[in-house]
Amino acid sequence: MTPEEFRRYGHALIDWLADYQAGIAARPVQAVTGPGEVKAMLPGAPPEGPEDFSGVLADLDRVVMPGLSLWQHPRFFGYFPANAEPAGVLGDLVSTGLGVLGLSWQSSPAITEIEEVMTDWVRQMVGLSGAWSGVIQDTASTSALIALLSARERASGYAQTRGGMQGGGAKLMVYVSGQSHSSVDKAALLAGFGREFVRLVPCDGAYAMRADALAAMVAEDVAAGRVPCAVVASCGTTATTALDPVGAIAEIAARHGMWLHVDAAMAGGAMIAPECRWMWAGVEGADSLVINAHKWLGAPFDCSLYYVRDTQHLIRVMSTNPSYLQSAVDGQVQNLRDRGIALGRRFRALKLWFMIREQGVSGLRARVRRDMANAAALAAEVAGTAGWRVLAPVVLQTVCVRHEPAGLEGEALDAHTRGWAEAVNRSGVAYLTPAVIDGRWMVRVSIGALGTEAADIAMTWAAMRQAAETGGGHG
Ligand SMILES: Cc1ncc(COP(=O)(O)O)c(C=O)c1O
Repeated sequence: MTPEEFRRYGHALIDWLADYQAGIAARPVQAVTGPGEVKAMLPGAPPEGPEDFSGVLADLDRVVMPGLSLWQHPRFFGYFPANAEPAGVLGDLVSTGLGVLGLSWQSSPAITEIEEVMTDWVRQMVGLSGAWSGVIQDTASTSALIALLSARERASGYAQTRGGMQGGGAKLMVYVSGQSHSSVDKAALLAGFGREFVRLVPCDGAYAMRADALAAMVAEDVAAGRVPCAVVASCGTTATTALDPVGAIAEIAARHGMWLHVDAAMAGGAMIAPECRWMWAGVEGADSLVINAHKWLGAPFDCSLYYVRDTQHLIRVMSTNPSYLQSAVDGQVQNLRDRGIALGRRFRALKLWFMIREQGVSGLRARVRRDMANAAALAAEVAGTAGWRVLAPVVLQTVCVRHEPAGLEGEALDAHTRGWAEAVNRSGVAYLTPAVIDGRWMVRVSIGALGTEAADIAMTWAAMRQAAETGGGHG
């Protein structure tokens, strides 16, 4: 493709994306294709010769669009908000278009230095002290793995430099709650702790980890000769956005020399509003922390900000220094490959830089506040409607609801819940994700797409009521 062709097709694609943004509200939210339908539209073998690129662009509408559920739709209330602020999209485009890699500072200095400044900007935006330093990872899953590897190495006195997991060291314990994200459990297993050494701390009625139960478990393990190694506290759990008591957990961690990782993948972005910071009170007592800028905050996926207080420890666990990556300035610069798993580094900081400058902190803050107000209003509406229940405290932007008609219980109630949620999703009006809480199905309304206004929520609530109360849905 020549630069001139690239310009022509690139302009056409930006127009296509701008049309997509402008017209998104009129599209069905949920993908309309069934299993296998997208694959059936693709040839089984690659083209031997080059194709006209305009045919590729046409296939976006023909093949791709029907197979997408639209996360940027103003009535997308599934999973969690994963916004793509247009300025961030442009930053990501530039990153990809430049095609540069940060293997080391030397390999493209701006990648490292803009990332250092952007993670520090976000640190200030969420009110963390200067003791933290950040690096961008792909996801919170990777961040959790890095945290638990760091915890393992600290507790084992850097066993990786000796016998590692084969060296027959102490039995290291990890504590999570039943509401922790599945990536935390996965990270503990991948870091080699072993299922038997990952303990599930019970939660209270608001689905937050019970600090007293954690303290009791830790005491029991210590008495049995096991070593408390790490605890993961969630600030905004995936199901209900519950808030584990970070401060109380930090005290227990400090008492036992445990690593505290705070999973603020979801709620971290909200801390740009100072009135939210009580939600992670005590966070300065943690060792590591993750905030997914690619969720509510608005940076297009992927952009997970991982912060630590002891940078030297992170570097010691993660560093590699092959000769071909060494440079004369290594003593004066940061090599961010030494703060994570991957060697190659995308220029992710560019999308943050573009987004924060275009929105200003005030613009991002206003959106987060709008979403929390919308969630509170919906919760009040649901709670005030006969037959409906709000199942968990609404502290952020997620409202967990159930329609409980008189006489409907157990599996029949589950079938009803899943049925009406599916009817709403099938209608294309809105997209909701059902989930299990306390062994029963409920429906999460996770508010926070860029375009979601009160009118979108009113329309969705009407669709929910129609689907649940009349059994009708929208077809
Ligand atoms: C609280 C929490 N932690 C971790 C994750 C995992 O995020 P990622 O997809 O960045 O690995 C999620 C995503 O839903 C989450 O809500």
